[in-house]
Formats: sequence, structure tokens, C-alpha cells
Amino acid sequence: MRDIIIAGNWKMNKDWTETRDFGGLVADFATSLDHPAVRILIAPPYPFLQEAVSITANSPVKVAAQDVSFRQNGAFTGEVSAAMLASIQVPYCIIGHSERRQYHHETDATVKARMQGLFEHQITPIVCIGETLAQRDAGETEKVILSQLQGCFEQIELADSEKVVVAYEPVWAIGTGRTATPEQAQEVHALIRQWFAGHYGAGFANGLHILYGGSVKPDNIADLLAQADIDGGLIGGASLVYEQFATMINTAVQIVKHRRTQ
Ligand code: PGA
Repeated sequence: MRDIIIAGNWKMNKDWTETRDFGGLVADFATSLDHPAVRILIAPPYPFLQEAVSITANSPVKVAAQDVSFRQNGAFTGEVSAAMLASIQVPYCIIGHSERRQYHHETDATVKARMQGLFEHQITPIVCIGETLAQRDAGETEKVILSQLQGCFEQIELADSEKVVVAYEPVWAIGTGRTATPEQAQEVHALIRQWFAGHYGAGFANGLHILYGGSVKPDNIADLLAQADIDGGLIGGASLVYEQFATMINTAVQIVKHRRTQ
């Protein structure tokens, strides 16, 4: 059975002190839970990754970067490579987030290149895909999702579903307060899993974690996680407030416990 991943994407929020304090709180909380079936991730900005790695080192909390360069090294001012992330023991990295696609011209092809670089350094990519509102309204959701999957994963060899995480984030739901209904999200998650079953086999697809992102909050996370193909949340705004983040982790723990008694 897949465990649940609760990942906080801080985006361009929190400074060094806030990273240390918040990371410390989450680390203590996660340790007190002693529940390995919920995986907790935080994704602070680059300058604070090392602090986050060190403050969470003796806890189950793992750290993710929010992006990585698709190049290996050299004269690329402002870029950070997968090797650099690996050198400070960052185990996860978000790639292809819609804000990177929208403001920094990230494409499926560069997402793929980033993914290859991360694999070389044993860092698990969290690959984000999702349609815009115009695409949904035009009835193109399925087409867009399948094309993003094809573009990001073409020629990528994957044998172990633990090596990658996929996040479905409908662009129209990110930071807007407008969440996809659990049914809308489930429909796309099932489509994604089916695509992976077709390309990498049923065993791989069954083990793959597919997270939902887009205005996940304490009051909607239970309904989202109740869906068969939703394996966690990639959470922006609500992950910045400790009480909200802790509440969502608690909800995930209750859901896992409930599933295990069934
Ligand atoms: P949100 O962001 O929860 O603030 O909508 C989610 C994300 O962009 O990862």
C-alpha cells in the first residue's frame, strides 16, 4: 500500500530564522508522530536548504529543493545544479512547477533534462503537471496531461516507482483558493496512473505516488486524500502556517491508520 506524502512548497517565503524555527517545529512534531506511513517534506528556498537539512536531520522530515538547473555546471549565472543539491544531501526536488513554466519558460523538454540530472545524483524529482483554466474550459484537460507526461517522461527509463513522484496541480487552483473537487482531481490522477501503467507496467503504476496540489487546506485535505489515486498533497500557502501544516499531517496520519484497519 502506498504511503501518503505531505509536502510543503514554501515558494519565495520564509528567511533563515523562519526556516530554522519552522523546520525545528515540524521535525519535533514528525518525530513525536512516529508514523512512517506519512512522509513529510518541506521545500524552502535555496539559501536555506542546508539549514533545513541540518535541523531535520534526526527526524523523519525530508527536504526538497524547489527547482534545479538542467545543466551540469559552468557559466550559468544564478543557476544551481543537481550535484550541488546532492552535496548538501537534499533528497527531493520539485521540477516543472507551473510558476516556473509560466515565469521562467520551463518546458516539458527542460523538465525532462532536469529529471535526468537529478537521477544521476539520486535525488527524487517531484514532477509537476497540470492544465490551465482555459485548457480545462476548452475540454482539453486530458490532452494536456497526456502531452505533458509524454514530453516529460519520453525515453526516461524507470524501474522503481520510489525514484519519482508526480504532482497534479491544475494551474487554476494554485494560490486561488479554488480547489479542484475531489472527483475532478481523482479523474486526472486515475488518468495519470493509467498512463504510467501503459508505459512502465502495472506494478510501477501501483507504487507511484501522485500528489494533488492547488489550494489544499486543512478543511479539504481529508476529502482529497480519500480518493483512490491521490497519494498526498503538494501544498503552498497552507504549508507556511505551522498549525495548518500540522493539522494536515495529522489528517493524513488518521487516514493511513483508518486504511490499515480495513
Ligand atoms: P497553493 O500552492 O497550495 O498555495 O495553491 C500549491 C503549489 O503551487 O504547489
